[in-house]
Amino acid sequence: MIMGTAGFTALQCSFTTKSTREELLLGEKVQSVIVSGASGGVGSMAVMILNKLGCDVTAVTGKDSNKDYLKSIGAKDVLNTSELMKDARPLDKGLWDGAVDTVGGKVLENILSQTKDAGIVAACGNAADIKLNTTVMPFIIRGVKLWGINSVTASIKRRQFLWNEAGKLIDFEALGKSVKEINLEEVNDVYPKMLKGETSGRYIINLNR
Ligand SMILES: NC(=O)c1ccc[n+]([C@@H]2O[C@H](COP(=O)([O-])OP(=O)(O)OC[C@H]3O[C@@H](n4cnc5c(N)ncnc54)[C@H](OP(=O)(O)O)[C@@H]3O)[C@@H](O)[C@H]2O)c1
Repeated sequence: MIMGTAGFTALQCSFTTKSTREELLLGEKVQSVIVSGASGGVGSMAVMILNKLGCDVTAVTGKDSNKDYLKSIGAKDVLNTSELMKDARPLDKGLWDGAVDTVGGKVLENILSQTKDAGIVAACGNAADIKLNTTVMPFIIRGVKLWGINSVTASIKRRQFLWNEAGKLIDFEALGKSVKEINLEEVNDVYPKMLKGETSGRYIINLNR
């Protein structure tokens, strides 16, 4: 219930960043990963999962007040989203072996140009923007892969694998702390704040309250 589609999407994205042939065949680790929209539903669970998978996770958030929370769920470093809102260079210094992007737009453009050789960027969301203004350089010079994630069409086999991994990779106690239960009426207060990006964590609507 707490995980929902966001959790499933986070699992799918996290395993995607780890699926380079280099890691599978040559044992070269996917170590430094970046997760955008990190205090959101998908982002926060991707931070947890990638940390449990042994990666050094850099969480990107617009909310400096969430820094301690993000560290408590497994982020090694926290960046402010504004640092990834500049005009991206075709190729920037390579920093990330992999990425989970939930916001799109300029943030994704910068992540692509900062991804190292053969890195995989799993893109699932458009919380900031649906547009993507990039160049072919990360793809043809570094072999970066932009891997679109659609949880709706995931096969049954993939679903079985990912849900089986959830128990090992999600810290349900930590996740529980970021969940607020509200009733249907309270949605009227919460929803406008959510649209303005003022909320954090997950909300469960209890229809019986
Ligand atoms: N492809 C799929 O199958 C699939 C499945 C589920 C969700 N999604 C998509 O994935 C995205 C994330 O979903 P979610 O459930 O995690 O949503 P969410 O809980 O609302 O989180 C989105 C996060 O994105 C960041 N954000 C919001 N507005 C932003 C802006 N204007 N600029 C930069 N960052 C911004 C915020 O992170 P901070 O507070 O940390 O800044 C926010 O918490 C959504 O676009 C959703 O539609 C796709």
